[in-house]
Amino acid sequence: MRRFILLALCLLAWTSAFAAPRYDIVPTPKHLTEAEGFFRLDKNTALVVEDAAFEEIAADFKAQVKHASALDGSKTRIVLRKRDGFGKEAYKLTVTPSEVLIEASEVNGAFYALQTFKQLLPDAIYAQALKKPVKFLAPCCTIDDEPEFWYRGFLFDCGRFFFPKEEIMKFIDLCATYKQNMFHWHLTEDQGWRIQIDKYPKLTEVGAWRKETAWHSGKGNGIPHGGFYTKDDIREVVEYARRRCVTVIPEVEIPGHSTAAIAAYPELSCFPDRHYEVETKWGIHKNLYAPTATTFRFLEDVFTELFELFPSPIYHIGGDEAPKDVYRESAYCQDLMTVLGLENVEELQTFFVKRMGDFLRRHGKTVIGWDEILDGGALEDPIAMSYRGHAPAARGIKRGIRVILTPNRWCYLDNRQEDQSDAVDQNVFMPLKKVYNYYPSVDSLKDLSAKYIVGYETCLWTEYVPDNETAEYQAFPRNVAAAEVGWTSRENKDWESFRRRMPKVLSTLDWKGVRYCPVYYDVIFDYDRNIGFPKPMNLMLDDPSAEVHYTLDGSTPTMKSPRYDGTPFMVDRGSVIKARGFRKGKPIGKVTTKEFAK
Ligand code: ACM
Repeated sequence: MRRFILLALCLLAWTSAFAAPRYDIVPTPKHLTEAEGFFRLDKNTALVVEDAAFEEIAADFKAQVKHASALDGSKTRIVLRKRDGFGKEAYKLTVTPSEVLIEASEVNGAFYALQTFKQLLPDAIYAQALKKPVKFLAPCCTIDDEPEFWYRGFLFDCGRFFFPKEEIMKFIDLCATYKQNMFHWHLTEDQGWRIQIDKYPKLTEVGAWRKETAWHSGKGNGIPHGGFYTKDDIREVVEYARRRCVTVIPEVEIPGHSTAAIAAYPELSCFPDRHYEVETKWGIHKNLYAPTATTFRFLEDVFTELFELFPSPIYHIGGDEAPKDVYRESAYCQDLMTVLGLENVEELQTFFVKRMGDFLRRHGKTVIGWDEILDGGALEDPIAMSYRGHAPAARGIKRGIRVILTPNRWCYLDNRQEDQSDAVDQNVFMPLKKVYNYYPSVDSLKDLSAKYIVGYETCLWTEYVPDNETAEYQAFPRNVAAAEVGWTSRENKDWESFRRRMPKVLSTLDWKGVRYCPVYYDVIFDYDRNIGFPKPMNLMLDDPSAEVHYTLDGSTPTMKSPRYDGTPFMVDRGSVIKARGFRKGKPIGKVTTKEFAK
């Protein structure tokens, strides 16, 4: 009997080793050639680093996979080889039964090859330690890979709510796992200033704290909120990101979104005698930095301290949502406009932004701003982030200005992903499929788009994201889809393939302790909220291995309930639809319900 069990186990191992290999790589690489056989990562494997430039990423890789191999074996090899001729982030990965060969010209490419290699292995490679033994087999293949866009960003708004540095690093690690390379750190807001600046201690003594948070209704909750990153925290985060080939781009908002700084130093405002407090409400606020020598000195001092902390060649100066009432009201601003020969307050903002942009350029920085920076047109060689749809991108492109696309209907991760009727703060419904199917381009300017659109960024704004758990829920798994949008070419993008790769993504996120939104296993009600009744209803389920059953009589759907075949049906006022996915006769996810009022 024991021999029989042993034989059965061997057979099982043999068949699983020779089952069709899965190349569930996210983002999809540029070229993948499948091959027979598997490489096994185990005690027999050695790590060979042929160039000192790759020592650091090799050491990190070794630490990450230590539960699979100490990498000091003598039979099989993982080789990191430096070879000329690759783009900065490009690599070649060749997996054979005896060797994994990684070739790249720069650390970035070699790092991405290692991310890809880990994805070829069972996802337990992301475990800290193993509870039971796992066979770490990677299917053989040859991969030639490079990104579609050089800027693949993720914004984390730490102004509206403060998030601890550990959470920031968790997000950076996830960005790196899926080959996003820019972490845009939104650090200053009306509701909080989050960076220690030695020359201006009140920025964090006063500006980092608000007395309460006023939610949807504008009514406060009475609970103080705040926090800031010390210089050591920032150094730690920036170094952590550097080791993962992620650039940390700081954003200091000018001239608007500046109430917290003004509350700390009212002399930065147009009306220094007024009383200011760190904002407790969301929305667009009217406090602006005054275009005075005091403000310019202050901002130059702040940036000078930031230069020590953030080696990024790109700095973000905001520039969005600055209603100019105070510039109109202020006698000083009106006089300044006369002296400078400016025709309107918009030009005064342009003057302000240009002044700071020039300062940053003199210090070797490329300036990014929200798409309002296009309005005055005075900045030299900026990059504009087109967030109000695609029209600003088109304007920028026509003027030969580089653009990053962040249109809010496709890129704002605070938009809802489960059920559009839940959208209390934002009315935009942005499920995984919508994020995935986006391609950063201005359709009317296809050729110029390829030249001037340098990238794409998702933004996690946090007005309604008060804690780590909600941040992870809002960002994942959608930010993984976004990572593929930034990396994978338009021809290689394929929603059907992506949804089949999702289970591996989700289990990777499980290993990494990410509290993602589990809607992949739930039915989503897909209908047009803007048209009248009766109207067509489509039932969407991202998991392609399941079928959908639904009821219209309020009962709980079972396998015996009607099966949704993909043809939308009509619903009316008073309709109650309940739906659920089933795989091999067993329910998955939860029952979801849509009820339209009579
Ligand atoms: C923005 O959404 N105000 C950049």
